Amino acid sequence: MLEVMLEVSGIDAFYGQSQALFGMNLEVQAGQVVSLMGRNGMGKTTTIRAIMGLNRPRSGSVSFQGRDLGKLPPYQIAQLGLGLVPEGRQIFPNLTVRENLVATARPPDPLGAAGPEAWTLERVYALFPRLQERRASMGDQLSGGEQQMLAVGRALMTNPKLLLLDEATEGLAPLIRQEIWSCLSDLKAAGQAILVIDKNVEALTAICDRHFIVEKGHLVWSGNSDELSANPDIQHQYLGV
Ligand SMILES: Nc1ncnc2c1ncn2[C@@H]1O[C@H](COP(=O)(O)OP(=O)(O)OP(=O)(O)O)[C@@H](O)[C@H]1O
Ligand SMILES: [Mg+2]
Repeated sequence: MLEVMLEVSGIDAFYGQSQALFGMNLEVQAGQVVSLMGRNGMGKTTTIRAIMGLNRPRSGSVSFQGRDLGKLPPYQIAQLGLGLVPEGRQIFPNLTVRENLVATARPPDPLGAAGPEAWTLERVYALFPRLQERRASMGDQLSGGEQQMLAVGRALMTNPKLLLLDEATEGLAPLIRQEIWSCLSDLKAAGQAILVIDKNVEALTAICDRHFIVEKGHLVWSGNSDELSANPDIQHQYLGV
């Protein structure tokens, strides 16, 4: 029996007068890895911002484990177990790697079902040994790849029930991209639910259970990886592949 974890239902979101989302829908079930795809400027980040309470939808609803997020401030939404790796990474520039990891760390929900092992500094360092080597470096002295590892590690340190990545591998060198994908695949194997935005359809098809495609603020397609692979027209029309 699949349990709905995150449910985005018919949301409209705006920037001032300009509407960016039109009745957007999306769903993540426990243990699933789900992609949100679409070309530049189509509404992916806006959807993530609506989920995190950073851009309040004017209509529709967002719920997490059956709880309506509509009136909660962003920090409380995060505390419910949503760990965001934001677009642009937003590493704290004046904190060290270690400080970035512990600044927003949170123990696992004591009331949650016995989940995977808790994240600690040691576990994050084992996942990304590079972060341990650079633990005393300041956030603004890191390469793009190191910043992205740090952003993932920082989100994991909140022991999220759902990990959200807005541009998982954007702008990274091929080897680092591979490292991020392999990390996400390990997390999936450990039962971590993930919502991931990326432009690499091949990598997403390999790892995701389900895909949602947004075009000009509308959900235009959703389906599993077999359906996406069998549908080159969809990929061409909406993803430019
Ligand atoms: N701060 C803002 N003010 C006004 N309009 C915005 C703002 N941020 C985004 N938009 C507009 O909202 C629409 C959706 O943008 P969004 O950032 O969600 O796209 P995206 O799918 O994440 O794109 P990308 O792949 O480039 O990150 C775009 O038309 C964009 O121009
Ligand atoms: Mg974006």
